[in-house]
Amino acid sequence: MVKEEHSRRRIVAVTGASGAIGTAIARQLAEIPGQEVVLICRDEDKAARCADGISRATGNPNVRYELTDLSLRASVQALANRWEGPLDVLINNAAIAPRRRMQTAEGIEMQFATNVLGYFWMIDALSEHLRHGSDARIINVASYWAGGLVLGDLEFRKRPYNNDAAYRQSKQADRMLSVAFARRLQPLGITVNACHPGDVNSTLSNSLGFGGHQSPDSGAETPVWLAVGETGGQHTGKYFEHQHEVSCTFGRDHEAVEILYETCQSY
Ligand SMILES: NC(=O)c1ccc[n+]([C@@H]2O[C@H](COP(=O)([O-])OP(=O)(O)OC[C@H]3O[C@@H](n4cnc5c(N)ncnc54)[C@H](OP(=O)(O)O)[C@@H]3O)[C@@H](O)[C@H]2O)c1
Repeated sequence: MVKEEHSRRRIVAVTGASGAIGTAIARQLAEIPGQEVVLICRDEDKAARCADGISRATGNPNVRYELTDLSLRASVQALANRWEGPLDVLINNAAIAPRRRMQTAEGIEMQFATNVLGYFWMIDALSEHLRHGSDARIINVASYWAGGLVLGDLEFRKRPYNNDAAYRQSKQADRMLSVAFARRLQPLGITVNACHPGDVNSTLSNSLGFGGHQSPDSGAETPVWLAVGETGGQHTGKYFEHQHEVSCTFGRDHEAVEILYETCQSY
């Protein structure tokens, strides 16, 4: 993989950094000279262990964590309010696929709140901190396993809840929102791209019942490549698998993309 080194320190935030792929993303980034890596986690014990483990493994002292519950708008906003200094790269990666329908304390279906609104709120709240016009990037970890989005029933209030259907819908939404934000953030010089990481054994993949045969490190390769390679700085609103752009029909339905964006904004 080509890893472009920047002359100044780059600050990269990774959500879900205590999970299988998120930890690998954070560690691979911390291995690159000049990167400061911020793990965005909800569990302090896991976050501290991960940050310490990555620092020791890479010899990079600039690995720290911030606690945030991505399923709660107020928690994401609090992170943005206390964020000090700029941000170069935001990698939205945290996701869940609970087998039973659950709701957040705010009454939102948990998978939609975490996998879709969590991505939306992070971009919305943190884009003011991204270094405008200076190679700032957002990467949304989505999936090829995507589809079936029903704009009129994003929270499975009308349909019976099924975790696989809710998950596929959420990953379609992540890909659509990448296009919506790419258009809005292009004037600020911020790129927004989506990708499939790989099939990796994790809590999430086991909830979905497929396990996964690839290593977390291999799952991290495309998100890291988008974060530091030339392509992620030169393209926006695109979807990538295995470090190649793949045509995405979801993003081409501009009317649906805009309705989804406005619906997310209304939460
Ligand atoms: N695994 C695969 O085969 C596969 C395939 C395609 C796409 N993906 C995508 O890759 C990404 C990472 O998946 P993974 O397999 O690495 O999942 P994972 O190991 O289950 O990790 C999920 C991460 O999200 C965090 N998280 C969940 N809810 C949160 C919340 N409300 N606030 C803050 N953090 C929260 C978890 O925190 P805790 O540690 O505290 O639970 C954990 O760090 C996801 O976006 C997924 O859709 C994965």
